[in-house]
Amino acid sequence: MNVPHNPQLPPELAGAIDHVGIAVADLEAGLALYRDLLGLELERVEEVPSENVKVAFLKLDRTAGAGHLELLAPLSEDGNIAAFIARRGPGLHHVAVAVKDITAAMERCRTAGIRLLDETPRTGAHGKKIVFLHPKDCGGVLVELCSPGT
Ligand code: CO
Repeated sequence: MNVPHNPQLPPELAGAIDHVGIAVADLEAGLALYRDLLGLELERVEEVPSENVKVAFLKLDRTAGAGHLELLAPLSEDGNIAAFIARRGPGLHHVAVAVKDITAAMERCRTAGIRLLDETPRTGAHGKKIVFLHPKDCGGVLVELCSPGT
């Protein structure tokens, strides 16, 4: 992750949106909108069996190579994304904030009284380490902390 350093940032944070996640009932329909109609470049499609989803990453900035839309489609009727769509319909699902040191960032959030949905980082798409923060502690937004896998 190549993010310019902002001296006002806590050192464990990267100061960038890594990606925005959108739940879609049908990945092809999502690609028809964001890739075919809006012209975003499809970077890769990946199945994440541990999350029971198939995800498509679309580049938001072709020059920097940073910033993506993540389309998340359920692989079956089980799992968080299927439950989200059943409950609320497809739509904006989460915002992923880039962090340099996920352990330090988790500790920072814990200290601030924010509940973590994962006690330890799990491996998300593209081998990245991810942790979700409780949306009720984040103003109604499901926030993902996201760092490069090591
Ligand atoms: Co994500």
